[in-house]
Amino acid sequence: MVHYAPQVQLPLPICLERSAPLLTTGHVAEARIGTSGTFSDNMRLPIHRWYRYSAGFSADWVRSVIRECKPSALLDPFVGSGTSLLAAEEEGIDSYGFEAHPFVARIARAKLSWNASVKELVSWTAKLLQQATSMSPDISGETPLLLKCYSTEALRKLCAIRESFLILKEEMSTSVGELLWLAITSILRPCSHAGTAQWQYVLPAKGKARVLEPYDAFKTKIDTMTADMRHFQRSATPSGTLMARDARERLEFLDGKIDLVVTSPPYPNNYDYGDSTRLEMCFWHEIRGWGDLQTTVRRFLVRSCSQHAAAEKLKLDDVLAAPQLEPIRRDLSEICRSLEEERSHHGGKKSYHTMVAAYFADIASVFHALRGACSAGSRMCFVIGDSAPYGVYVPVDEFMGRLALAVGFSGFSFEKIRDRNVKWKNRKHRVPLKEGRLWIEG
Ligand SMILES: C[S@@+](CC[C@H](N)C(=O)[O-])C[C@H]1O[C@@H](n2cnc3c(N)ncnc32)[C@H](O)[C@@H]1O
Repeated sequence: MVHYAPQVQLPLPICLERSAPLLTTGHVAEARIGTSGTFSDNMRLPIHRWYRYSAGFSADWVRSVIRECKPSALLDPFVGSGTSLLAAEEEGIDSYGFEAHPFVARIARAKLSWNASVKELVSWTAKLLQQATSMSPDISGETPLLLKCYSTEALRKLCAIRESFLILKEEMSTSVGELLWLAITSILRPCSHAGTAQWQYVLPAKGKARVLEPYDAFKTKIDTMTADMRHFQRSATPSGTLMARDARERLEFLDGKIDLVVTSPPYPNNYDYGDSTRLEMCFWHEIRGWGDLQTTVRRFLVRSCSQHAAAEKLKLDDVLAAPQLEPIRRDLSEICRSLEEERSHHGGKKSYHTMVAAYFADIASVFHALRGACSAGSRMCFVIGDSAPYGVYVPVDEFMGRLALAVGFSGFSFEKIRDRNVKWKNRKHRVPLKEGRLWIEG
């Protein structure tokens, strides 16, 4: 018998209306009940727009939740590209964010460097470009992915910018260095003729119509960044603390300080966060290709894709025996056994059975860590989605809610935002899926 705490109906958060081109603090006014939005909503917002991170949510929505809940400190344990921290800085409250993907954490860190000297950034940009335009780097040793994704001319220019940056970097301040690193990183897709899939996987074989010239793209990016930095320097407070760390780890240092958690963890839907930055990591020589992603990225993350579970060679019984899974073990085991059985009928033999078990073991550890960080009366909002690998339905909202109650949170309710059964790549099943907000009471 499964026991539920009485579901607490929390007030719906408000969501800010999208409006004119560049939204700034002064314009954020109209509100409506609505969705958590997508990252594309952020592409017109200062700082947020510096790097397109498809997995992200809407900054305006986060701001609306902050205004509604009036917390003294916000935590986002899966902060991605930094959306929640920047939103908190715009609202003038303290915030903490964790990100375990090293490359994505660096992107967030660079965005949070908006308080650096604009003058210094402009001056180093000029030096960098002057040096780059006099260089003609040998690109023959670049990774096969880069050679496929760029014309020789474009790649040579991008490598010249990179080499020039690496030479000058030691002389500039850390924050200006991080801003320049991000400017270079963020022009890599626009300067490639290769397409990008909806979820940021690079598609070398799929061409696209508009390709930017690297030096122009770099200058334009710096112009955008300096304008946005000036805007934030006038209107926001640099109060966010970003940590490149694992949300599953214990959080003694926050000991009851947090009264609002706004976050979106990976969904157990096989999206490979490691692969979303493959092009960029190849460019910076952090990996040679897909085969390096497990050791450089995935191993740090919540296990939400089958490649990760397969690489760890997990044994289902061992994962299911994890003590933190006790509150859902019986129902979860049934699902994982069905996935194990289903696997034998499919050619790819994907490790969904161990992935799903490991996913909830990881999420349970995150809740455990959060319990220590959150005050009594705190509130948490998890933007989540369910999944149905091989057509076997996984009730993510219910399992997460039960795991949260088991570590001492007092109630949960789920607020559906949209149906998403069309997005699952394996369309062989017709299981309806959904995305929404899991509200958890502290
Ligand atoms: C849905 S995305 C969050 C995006 C974020 N809301 C934004 O707007 O950019 C989930 C993030 O969790 C990160 N992540 C996965 N496992 C993690 C872990 N164990 N600890 C911290 N972050 C993790 C992923 O790298 C990814 O960036």
